[in-house]
Amino acid sequence: MIKIAVLPGDGIGPEIINEALKVLKSVSSKIKQEFDFKFYDVGAVAIEKYQNPLPENTLNGCKESDAILFGAIGHPKFDNNPKLKIRPEQGLLKLRKELGLFANLRPVKSYKEILSLSPIKQEIIDGVDMLIIRELTGGLYFGDKKTNNNISTDVCTYSVSEIERVTNVAIEYAKKRRNKITLIDKANVLETSRLWRKTVQDISVKHPEIELDYMFVDNAAMQIILNPKQFDVILTENLFGDIISDEASVIGGSIGILSSASLGKKMGLFEPIHGSFPEASGKNIANPLACIISVSMMLNYLKLEKGAEMIQKAVEKSLMHKVTTADLNNSFKYKTSDVGDFISKYINNNN
Ligand code: IPM
Ligand code: MN
Repeated sequence: MIKIAVLPGDGIGPEIINEALKVLKSVSSKIKQEFDFKFYDVGAVAIEKYQNPLPENTLNGCKESDAILFGAIGHPKFDNNPKLKIRPEQGLLKLRKELGLFANLRPVKSYKEILSLSPIKQEIIDGVDMLIIRELTGGLYFGDKKTNNNISTDVCTYSVSEIERVTNVAIEYAKKRRNKITLIDKANVLETSRLWRKTVQDISVKHPEIELDYMFVDNAAMQIILNPKQFDVILTENLFGDIISDEASVIGGSIGILSSASLGKKMGLFEPIHGSFPEASGKNIANPLACIISVSMMLNYLKLEKGAEMIQKAVEKSLMHKVTTADLNNSFKYKTSDVGDFISKYINNNN
């Protein structure tokens, strides 16, 4: 029995999680692997109930699980009130920190079936296959923060060991792919970036088969759109990774299909990279694919590769037959639950 902590979170979170679990149940019976699901509150819903975006019970439940499936986080009522001390996002950040989830993997590829949906020219994005590896528990996100007399400060700190451990993950993945790492930084300005360059360089010397490239983040923001095929593994710090992964999602045609794995030494959390999309909440219109693909990433992590593959194939079928939500299909024919139904039935009938 594999224990999964399920954290639906806010906005469209519960709806897309429903579809993801529907799909996982189909896989479960096909691969004859049982799962035990335990649900926990996080984010704005947890603030409503407990005045705490990450209640103790949720954190403990996550620690006791084999993997975590996460929906979405955030609510607009917390966004424009700078005086608030408690915010939904703190739930996710604390979870990442407490569980030591330092490596965030965000695969970006273009699916043939939906190439035309990207605003970028098809010849530029056809064949893109990159993996963004974002450091997730350091940098500006977690440095000291303060405001005094109209002056605010966010401190950016990185230690060699923080850089080393995520670099080792990047090397491991690059070796399974095309042996290329592009380190994205701002080493012409930032001290932390210079430490990144030195540390990554020192490690790469021990792995001569890896081609290591460096790119300043401003140039990278342009290159991701101009020539995304040049990238294999992108390695970068926390904030840069947050920004360029949303940018890179344009290549795939919709942010609604990008998923991520956040990995630590002995824990993995799997979530879409998109937010809680409050405008769509409760309307059964949100794209569940990113969450469903997150389940596929989770199965790979749990060494259930056959199940992961089943999901990946079924997702491609849904794209091929245009059984997709409005962000990917302008006929507006299919709802969130239709996509989940299609994928889960496809798995039932074809494996
Ligand atoms: C992400 C999100 C989070 C982040 C927010 C919700 C705190 O944007 O996972 O990319 O900035 O890391
Ligand atoms: Mn983000």
